[in-house]
This record gives sequence, C-alpha cells and structure tokens, in this order.
Amino acid sequence: MSFNYTDIRAQFPILSRQVNGKPLVYLDSAASAQKPRAVIDAMVHAMEHSYANVHRGLHTLANETTDAYEAAREAARRLVNAGSVNEIVFTKGATEAINLVAASVGLTLSAGDEIIVSEMEHHANLIPWHFLRERKGVVLRFVPVTDEGALDLDAYEALLGPRTKVVALTHMSNVTGAVSDTARIVAGARRVDAMVLLDGCQSIAHQPVDVVALDCDFFVFSSHKLYGPTGFGVLYGKADRLAEMAPYQGGGEMIGIVSMERITYADPPHRFEAGTPPILEAIGFGAAVEWLETVDRAAAAAHEHALYARAVEGLRDLNGLRILGTTPDKGAILSFTLEGAHAHDVAQILDRYGVAVRAGTHCAEPLMRRFGVTSSARASFALYNTPEEADAFVDALHRASSFFA
Ligand SMILES: Cc1ncc(COP(=O)(O)O)c(C=O)c1O
Repeated sequence: MSFNYTDIRAQFPILSRQVNGKPLVYLDSAASAQKPRAVIDAMVHAMEHSYANVHRGLHTLANETTDAYEAAREAARRLVNAGSVNEIVFTKGATEAINLVAASVGLTLSAGDEIIVSEMEHHANLIPWHFLRERKGVVLRFVPVTDEGALDLDAYEALLGPRTKVVALTHMSNVTGAVSDTARIVAGARRVDAMVLLDGCQSIAHQPVDVVALDCDFFVFSSHKLYGPTGFGVLYGKADRLAEMAPYQGGGEMIGIVSMERITYADPPHRFEAGTPPILEAIGFGAAVEWLETVDRAAAAAHEHALYARAVEGLRDLNGLRILGTTPDKGAILSFTLEGAHAHDVAQILDRYGVAVRAGTHCAEPLMRRFGVTSSARASFALYNTPEEADAFVDALHRASSFFA
C-alpha cells in the first residue's frame, strides 16, 4: 500500500485532457469522481470476455459473471467492514438505497411517528422521508446547523423522544464537509430505540468506514463518487434489520416461491434486488474497491486536506469571499460565495481557465436557506489532485473576482 499522487493521477486517463485550451483542473469529485484505468479495463474486459445475466444461467458465462458480481459484494463488505455479504444490498445509487429504506420502514410507521433529519441533508436524504410525511402523516424533525456548518447535536438530543423511529443524517456534508459525530448520534438514537441511517456518500470517498464501529443500522453510498461507475450504489443494513423489512420492488430473483395465490420472498440481500441488476457497474465498482485497497487511504486523506488548506490559505485575502463550512477536520470540500457574483457565473469563468467546480444549491436547499444564500460554488479535492491544481484554482478565482469588482 502506498500513496503518491503523481502515480495515482497517471492512472486516470481523463485527467490529461485539456479544457478550453488549458490543462483540466477537475475539482468536482464530490459530485462524481473520475475513473482509474483499473475500473475502465474491468468493465471493458467483462463485456469483451465474460458477460451474461447473473443468478439465472447454468452456462459458463453466466456462472463467471455471477462470480464477478458476487465478488463485488464481498468487496463492498470489506470496504465498510460489514460482518456478512448478506448485509450488502446493491442498488442503483445512494438515492435508491435511501428510498428503499424509507419505503420499507415506512410501512411500519404510523401518523405522528417522528423521523429526525437535518437542515443540511442532501435532497436524497430528505425527499424519501418527506414522502412519508405526505403519505403517512409522520412528522419530520430537523436538526439545526451551526454557523460553522456542523450538526447542532445539543439540539439533536433535545429532539429525541418516544415517537422518534428513525434518525437519518449525513456522515459528511456535501456542502460544508463537516464530519458528523456519529458516536453521539447513535448513542442518542439507541436511548429512544430509533434506527439510524447514515448517508455516507461523501465520507466513503474521504475516510475509512467501519459499520461495526459506527454501529449504525443502515449506511448508504454511491459508487460513482468512489472512483467507480454510475448507476450503482450500496445499502449496508444490519442483518436483523434487513430480515424484518418488506421488499421494496417486486420482480425476478427476489422471490422464494410464486403461485397464483401467494408469494414468498428470498432472504436478504436478494429480497431487495428485483430484476436484472447493474451487472457491469457492479464489476466496475468491485474493481474500484480493489484499486482503492492498493492506496494508503490515510495518506490520501492527509493529501486532500493539505490541498484544501493550501487553497484556503491562497484565498485568505480575496475580498468578498465567504466559505460555507469552517469546522476543523472537515472533508476536503470548499463551498464558497463571492460577494456580488452568482455562483453560476463564477463556475463559468473558472471553466475558461480549465477549472471545473460545481455551482448551485448542491441539492441542499434548506442549507442554502440556513446560510442565507441562493447558491454557492464548490471546489472538492480528491486523491488525484495536485498542489499545482489547488494553486491554479486560487489563481483563477482571483482573476474571476476582478470581473465582479
Ligand atoms: C451527501 C450526499 N447524499 C446523497 C447523494 C445522492 O447520491 P446519488 O445521486 O449518487 O444517488 C449525494 C450526491 O451528491 C451526496 O453528496
């Protein structure tokens, strides 16, 4: 295991391209990360050499593909340190994973039951719970966010009560980068016997995750933010939780027996994987995990932090800059506004210099409102970014700011 960002970078073919006549500076990995050669090759290899539908066939290609698909489940298990592959449900992304939990758990909730979310959730961890508010009369309680961009956990603890059934919170904010104090979150939920879902979309890319140590009931993330393909995600669920949950979708491969009168369901995880799954994407995801296992993740995280700190330092004197999210030990996510400038304009000007950042609400409208802004720009650093790229971003943002002076 090692970490050398120059070697790592060389494994991402797209990073050597130019944009608008300038070298690409890709600072949008929190939205979707680029893919290493190992992932690209694994997917191409599967299509060229061993591809068929999974779990159904008796022929060689079907068996080989099923083995590769299930190897990805074992890779996901290792990634989050789950106790068993049966606790790993494949989905098409974090959004589907949360919808699955909300739809299934929602069947057991009654009007007046309470679900705790926060002001800084991504819409993926808000709308499925809002569905339950609309459809079942459950009550949503919102953990407020501090001025530094973290969850206010004193307020969280005050929200917990006998009607609290689910606590669904982000592990790392996609806007402020704040890392949640999960020990306190889980301890509070246990006191009222509520289940805990952690949205790990951002944390999974920046820090090691151990679901046993976290002791959460559910942990969700998407492959595409972890250097794997789109259209694929993981729901980790504790075995006893999954066992008591009704299926989310019906179709092939999720059943026990089917007759004209009745049906029975397969055990988890297959109970939750109706229909032909994203096979190639699973194989690509498995390759991404295997590739990450060759990387020193602690060194990668330190590198990302150093890039973040370097950019913040370079922007210290920039008039009108406001950084959203100033907690220590945050993820390498730099969301900001520039006085007098719309975030979309900032992003477009940066693009002229080859610098790719995200701009908008980041699917976190309540948080934008909390900070009193309509949108913000976001530069997110990944393990393949370089100090020179952090400097190029700082330089481009200084130049962009002169357009609005
Ligand atoms: C914190 C967080 N949660 C959930 C999501 C939704 O992920 P996906 O669109 O891959 O389902 C994202 C994506 O940006 C995210 O950053």
